[in-house]
Amino acid sequence: METIKNYIEENRERFLEELFDLIRIPSVSSKAENKNDMFRAAEFIRDQLLKAGADKAEVYKTDGHPVIYGEKIIGDDKPTVLVYGHYDVQPAEPLEKWDSDPFEPEIREGKIYARGADDDKGQLFMHLKAFEFMMRTETLPCNIKFMIEGEEEIGSPNLKIFCQKYKNMLASDVILVSDTTMIARDIPSITVGLRGLSYMEVEVTGPDRDLHSGLYGGAVVNPVNVLSKMIASLTDENNRVTIKGFYDDVLEATDEERKELAKRPFNIDEYKKSINVDEVTGEVGYTTIERLGIRPSLDVNGIWGGYTGEGAKTILPSKASAKISMRLVPNQKSKKIDKLFEEHFKSIAPEGVKVKVRSLHSGEGYVAPVDSPAYLAASKACEDTFGKKPIPVRSGGSIPVVADFEEVLGVKSILLGFGLDSDAIHSPNENYPLYNFFKGIETIPLFFKYFAEMK
Ligand code: BES
Ligand code: MN
Ligand code: MN
Repeated sequence: METIKNYIEENRERFLEELFDLIRIPSVSSKAENKNDMFRAAEFIRDQLLKAGADKAEVYKTDGHPVIYGEKIIGDDKPTVLVYGHYDVQPAEPLEKWDSDPFEPEIREGKIYARGADDDKGQLFMHLKAFEFMMRTETLPCNIKFMIEGEEEIGSPNLKIFCQKYKNMLASDVILVSDTTMIARDIPSITVGLRGLSYMEVEVTGPDRDLHSGLYGGAVVNPVNVLSKMIASLTDENNRVTIKGFYDDVLEATDEERKELAKRPFNIDEYKKSINVDEVTGEVGYTTIERLGIRPSLDVNGIWGGYTGEGAKTILPSKASAKISMRLVPNQKSKKIDKLFEEHFKSIAPEGVKVKVRSLHSGEGYVAPVDSPAYLAASKACEDTFGKKPIPVRSGGSIPVVADFEEVLGVKSILLGFGLDSDAIHSPNENYPLYNFFKGIETIPLFFKYFAEMK
């Protein structure tokens, strides 16, 4: 019988060529100019599903970018796995920081370099090829459904509605997602926690126009000075967030849980080296792993205002703005945090400025059990292909739709990602090691096999 290893060996070049064709479509969900590319990418994936042997696969229009749904049903008595992924990518900018064209994939030192190479085109492609293998060899042991969206990187504004509308069609026993990382190429892990997100934009306005900083400076409120002070006050000397009520719903980890977390291999020196910093910081009293996995955080993502062009221009600016995100832990509710943030931010504004606050997106965190059939199946599959039992980890990243799936579809997700922290997702020179790509293709059919056996 044809094994997955042989199948990969025989089809290796074709798999890569097909993935590269998908990567070449610049499906940047945040840009209006790429609207048509979103359709092209969706149709490409639909065709891949049909060629691989899906009973049906269709591109569904939404109020935003399209969703692809496809399925292969083998029997009412079989368990059903719904595969989720996203074909949209982050913008590639700044382009000058890339060593090769972000939308013309290139293999260097065993890695595919391109926007979306990992997040999430490379990872979702592993599922298409694992499905193709199971169809060719008639070894698909479960019903399989695919839901691939094009708006993950902009907060999935239409996917919850899609799930509500097609709840019956999407019925499944588990949702399988490859959009996370593993600890290292030889240390498999399964993500059992994701953080939520509240993402705000603020604007502080003083005088109704820029003023001469000599004629007015020192006598009139300066919105950039004010915004800087307001932002600085959002965290205290222990790097704790000062917003009233911010920590109210955070579940404190028990000593037992903290001991478990500390077991995961983690080298702080390598971590510092990987991002070129001499020191790490964060909430006092917690380790780096805890700061990422079980503690919320607040960060300014961008700040602007006043004169930033060449040379000096002596003005007192009229406006200052910032984008501020808060990563939340399970049990914190993003809508509540949005409100607490807005109230707090307005309350700390000094006299003489107007403050606007709006939410750009919000989503909930997620925790998954380590004893579910899906977890055990994923664990066994990784053990087979990596030769080691995977470690459960809590990731600092967010995939807000995973909590929506639980709420709307009533189904838990298994986060079986094969990326690495060093893949530079969202950054210049995003990459995905060929090793991880092919290991993923090898591991996925085993997940299906063990999941079917356990159900
Ligand atoms: N795939 C990532 C999330 C991720 C990466 C989770 C690595 C865990 C490990 C996803 O595409 C992403 O970037 N999510 C955004 C969410 C936002 C746009 C709503 C994030 O985390 O910033
Ligand atoms: Mn992703
Ligand atoms: Mn992403």
